[in-house]
Amino acid sequence: YTTPKTIVVIFGATGDLANRKLFPSIYNLYEKGELKDEFAVVGVARRPLTLDVFRQNVKDSIEENIPVPQKVDEFSSHFYYHSSNVNDRTSYKELKDLLDELDSKYQTEGNRIFYLAMAPEFFGTIAENLKGEGLTSTSGYSRLVIEKPFGHNLPSAQQLNEQIRQAFSEDQIYRIDHYLGKEMVQNIEVIRFANAIFEPLWNNRYISNIQITSSEVLGVEDRGGYYENSGALRDMVQNHILQMVALLAMEPPIKLTTEEIRSEKIKVLRALRPIDESEVHDYFVRGQYGDGQINNKQVPSYRKEQNVDPKSNTETFVAGKLLIDNFRWAGVPFYIRTGKRMKAKSTKIIVQFKDIPMNLYMKKDNQLQNPNLLVIHIQPDEGITLHLNAKRVGQNTQTTPVHLDYCNNCIDGINTPAAYEKLIYDCMKGDATNFTHWDEVALSWSFVDPISHVWESQAATNFPNYSAGSMGPADSEKLLENDGFQWWSVS
Ligand code: BG6
Repeated sequence: YTTPKTIVVIFGATGDLANRKLFPSIYNLYEKGELKDEFAVVGVARRPLTLDVFRQNVKDSIEENIPVPQKVDEFSSHFYYHSSNVNDRTSYKELKDLLDELDSKYQTEGNRIFYLAMAPEFFGTIAENLKGEGLTSTSGYSRLVIEKPFGHNLPSAQQLNEQIRQAFSEDQIYRIDHYLGKEMVQNIEVIRFANAIFEPLWNNRYISNIQITSSEVLGVEDRGGYYENSGALRDMVQNHILQMVALLAMEPPIKLTTEEIRSEKIKVLRALRPIDESEVHDYFVRGQYGDGQINNKQVPSYRKEQNVDPKSNTETFVAGKLLIDNFRWAGVPFYIRTGKRMKAKSTKIIVQFKDIPMNLYMKKDNQLQNPNLLVIHIQPDEGITLHLNAKRVGQNTQTTPVHLDYCNNCIDGINTPAAYEKLIYDCMKGDATNFTHWDEVALSWSFVDPISHVWESQAATNFPNYSAGSMGPADSEKLLENDGFQWWSVS
């Protein structure tokens, strides 16, 4: 296997994503030697910038994000800038000339990655112009990387997809879901399929329910404009959460190829029981944060945030119950919840096993034993914990809970590549496994569309309904209580 040779063209090169994630990630690849000298990065944005200023921005971004960078100057010498209005066709011609020149300078063999790190309304136009002006006709590969949101609902996603498919085929399109680049999300499959002790139990005979919580402490920050039109359902559930559901529920793939893995994930999404508009209230709970205390600091309610309607109906919290109608999962609820301004920044998956057939032992205070739980810590801790029951020390027949812990980022946390770094490298290698296929995007929108439709057409009368710093509205607890379960808050 040889190191990637490629030119990465970043549209939106003066933006937040490029500066916070993309430049540092490409830098890490370079410093680790995963990228040698056969690469160049061309930043594209509207603002006129001199090459020196752009390279200085790149250096600043590296220095802000990487503790002790060793090769900043060499690295930034691979960067170029092209100021352009995305609608202006002549500007693509100039870009083409620049790319051709860099191709021979850096011997990148005509390989190109077009990374769209900007507002989605331009995705279609850019893709069309790239093809129309011949930027994708080279002797090497052309790949398109797109950030979310991929549409606003199924019809708009379809339209966007048709537009970019005019210029790029499905196997050239890399739709980013950065959760798929997280180490522990990638570990879900390994935990399941590399261990004889889990897979035989991984079904409705032994699992009672699965809970996914992705909570954030931050509020909407300066993204009010985007978030008002999105809300937590579109921002987190349609993509990241449903991707985790698919990985937890999929059948073992025949092989570890992109196609086989994707096809198993797609089957899960096809088996998701659709929620009828009349049932949304039974299966889903929405919330919006009010003011409250976080780390002893008073924070304002969502409705008081910048660019947010003071009567906003946008949800900043979602809890839901999903059912997967197939042989493996019939009858096992998957509970999900996510929200902003919650108690902690944490993503965890908890697999609750069914109770043993008969309880011979009790805990100290005559309480029933806890069920076995498998906790997959996605972030900030990375690892797994298995909750078991063991004998309490001493002359008794009582049990006590014990935890078997494996901490992933305790061992080589500092060297764990960040999600973007892994995904960019995958794209350079042509591995699309950890990107979302169009069918996954479409099925996810079909699932969430009726929910957003009901929520948009029926304003929430109880917003705000959870205080900042809490674990969400009381109805989210009830959702599980109604089924005889509870959200586990475990470490
Ligand atoms: C993004 C959402 O996709 O994921 C953000 O748009 C959210 O609103 C973020 O904050 C969460 O990502 P992470 O990696 O911090 O859990």
